[in-house]
Parts: sequence; structure tokens; C-alpha cells
Amino acid sequence: MNAPQASSPALSRWSEPGSSRVPFWAYTDGELYRRELETIFYGAHWCYVGLEVEIPNVGDYKLSHIGERQVLLVRDRKKLGSDSKFAAARSAADAGPADGRSAKLESDPNFLDDGIRVVENRCAHRGVRFCQKSHGNARSFVCPYHQWTYKLNGDLAGLPFKDGVKDGDHVNGGMPKDFELKDHGLTKLRVATLHGLVFATFSDQTEPLEDYLGPNVLPWLERIFKGRTLTLLGYNRQRIPGNWKLMMENIKDPYHPGLLHTWFVTFGLWRADQKSRMVMDAHGRHAVMISRKNEGGQAAVTQGVTSFKAGMKLHDDRLLDVVPEPWWRIPDPSNPGADIMPTVTMITLFPSLIIQQQVNSLSTRHIVPRGAGEFDFVWTHFGFADDTPEMTRRRLRQSNLFGPAGFVSADDGEVIELSQGGFRQGGEGGSTVCELGGTSLDATEHMVTETLIRSMYAYWKKVMAV
Ligand code: FES
Ligand SMILES: [Fe+2]
Repeated sequence: MNAPQASSPALSRWSEPGSSRVPFWAYTDGELYRRELETIFYGAHWCYVGLEVEIPNVGDYKLSHIGERQVLLVRDRKKLGSDSKFAAARSAADAGPADGRSAKLESDPNFLDDGIRVVENRCAHRGVRFCQKSHGNARSFVCPYHQWTYKLNGDLAGLPFKDGVKDGDHVNGGMPKDFELKDHGLTKLRVATLHGLVFATFSDQTEPLEDYLGPNVLPWLERIFKGRTLTLLGYNRQRIPGNWKLMMENIKDPYHPGLLHTWFVTFGLWRADQKSRMVMDAHGRHAVMISRKNEGGQAAVTQGVTSFKAGMKLHDDRLLDVVPEPWWRIPDPSNPGADIMPTVTMITLFPSLIIQQQVNSLSTRHIVPRGAGEFDFVWTHFGFADDTPEMTRRRLRQSNLFGPAGFVSADDGEVIELSQGGFRQGGEGGSTVCELGGTSLDATEHMVTETLIRSMYAYWKKVMAV
């Protein structure tokens, strides 16, 4: 057991062996939550900030979050050569021929970067969150308080009264002689892009993005994103009164959909009698749940399942007008020479991103924590530039399953709130039991397991030193 950090001597200890019994305080302790922000969100992890397609033109920006910190995802002019503050971890996978970028590394002075920056939304003067718009286009960022002005890359361009104000022969005020603009820019984050997904990190220690994601997870990201131009179909946002980790757990829990969700069990989109696979990275922090839908209806797996509604029919069956797409089929990463064609993949990228493909519906879901007991959940629904108008309409119709009031996802928001209530009620001594499929951390070829949850907490326990 690791020693507690000096800054938080009162933290609870994880006394059980393994990671299958998660203590309730892991979801409720405010001091622990503050350490999670520092260690996980502001530490050596890549955090999702948005999609390149959200900022197509120079000057476009999007207000996003890493942990509780607001950041701006910005499209700057492309820049020659390396700048140590920008994008040190851009990778060959991102720079491959599929999206037309040079594969040169940034250490090459001729490297032309893609101009994507992430800066903190916090004025270097007196701390104001200078940007209040969720999206926009700007030539520069001007803080409303005293009008310090920043370039798109976060450099301080100028400020009023820097050289004082003339009063006859005198000059009144002004900044000290040794004040240098270059020392007072916005906080610039390291940025890495992968096939249109943008990640950033506050830490210089974070490994390159491809290493962070790992070879088990990458093929499943490439299946959706590699070589494609995305189109933005819309957003949903919701606030869920539960700990942020519960959302990651929910998408690492493959057996709840066939029990909790009437839609999934009745219409066969996800349930325990489907062919499935659970994949994780070497650390257990990221995961992919892969499955293939069946025809639904009554079966051994629906026996006694109260959410199964044999007589339930859709008034508008276009909601499940599923059309298989060629890209669903890929060479099976686990079985050389064979193909695999899932209808659903749910990818969790620790700590804050979920990527969903459920039949023709695609979205990213961004977790924005707001204290130990609450998080915002931001859904970005997308399609592909070469979609027909019919496919775009289909994706939009199927997206009704998801989001705050989604036919499926509304259930998840509710059980997360109910879980948090139980943890508060249970107090210091209680813990969950995540032992379906045993206590091991192995990948599986079925979904009757809580292995992905155990794996995430094995990693979490280690980095949090509890
Ligand atoms: S706080 Fe931003 S210019 Fe003063
Ligand atoms: Fe669910």
C-alpha cells in the first residue's frame, strides 16, 4: 500500500485487496476529488477537448473543459517549425496519408503543424475567464476587464497603458521596465490530434497520444475515424448528480443494458445473448465494448427480465431503420485473417471521453466533473462528409436513443443519480461489489462480466495512491 500524500493526510484507505470492491468514499470524498483533478485531469493524462470539425476556419474557437478548468480549442494559422509549448506529441498515426498530413515529426524545423491550439480561458492579468461564448470566430481574444489582448496561440499581444499615460512632460504609470509580453501569455497546453479528435494535457510528462491509447484500443478508433471527414449533427448537454467515474463505469458495464434498458433488451440492440468482446489497454484505464445486435424478442436471456416488453412495438419504426455500413467490417485485430463486423462499439478513453457507435448513430460524450457528486455530460452527434442525406436523417433519428432524454440513455442518468444517493447513505464503510465474472482483470469474449470496471479501478487505485 502506498503512503498517503502529505497534502491529504485524512484520506480514506482502500482496505480490500484487488479492485472489485469500490469503497463508497471513492465517489463522495471532496478531498479525494480535488486530488483526482490534480492527478488525473491536470496530470499526465490526455483529455478530450473536441473535434477538429468544430473549428474548421482560422479564428474558430470552442469553449471546452478539462476537469473543472475552462479551455479554448482554437484554430490558429499553421506554423512552421516546432514550438515546445505546442503539440509535442503529435504522432505518425495522426499524420499518415489518410488525412493528408506530413508524417514529419515536430523536431523537424520544416514541420508544418495544423494550427490547432488549446489555451486556458483565464486571463494572465487578474484571472478573468475572458471568453463566455461556447463557439465563435475571433482575430484575437480580448479580456473585458482591462483589455489585455491575446493572439490565437495564447501569446499576449498587447495591453492598455503598458508604457504609461503622458501628462505634459511626464509619463504616469505603466508597467515596470522589465515587463515582457512574452512572459504573460495564456497557459498553453500540449495538444495531440488523432483522426479529427483533439486531446490536450497540462503536463509535460504525458506520453505520446498513441502510446497513451495503446495498440488494443487504436484499431477501434481507426475503424470509426481514420481517413474520414466528420460532419457535426448537433449537441445535447445534461447535468447528472453523480460522481464522474460512474459515467465511465456505466460504459464499462456491458451487462446492464440488457437488464436496465427496455429498448435494448426488447429490440435486441444490446443484450447478453449477443456475440461480444471486452477489450482494454495495458493499464486497464481505456476500454472497448464490442457487440453485434440480434433480432431481439423473447429468449432465455429475457426470462424474468422486467424491462423486457414482449408486446412493445414502435409507432414509427424509422427509429430503428438500421442500414449496415461498409466501414463496420474490419480485419479482426484479435484473429489475423478473419473479419469482424460489430453493430455497436462503446469506447471509454480515460478519464473523460466516451465514443459511441450504436448501429447508425455516432457521438462523442464528454465528461466534465463539477465536484465529487456532479458532472456535466456533453454529447456531440456526428456523421461523415460522404453520407447521403438519407443516412444523415437516419443518424439523427437514431440519436433519439441517446442524450439526456434518450429512449435508452435517460435510464443511465437516472441510475447514476440513484447510485450516488446510495453511496451518500452508505457512508464510510460501504463498498460496491463488482465481481461478475470473478475478480480478475482479463479481456473476455462475452459480456457477462464486470472486468472493465475492475480494470479501471485497479489503475485508478494506483495513480491515486489510495
Ligand atoms: S483581468 Fe484580464 S485584463 Fe485584467
Ligand atoms: Fe446504459
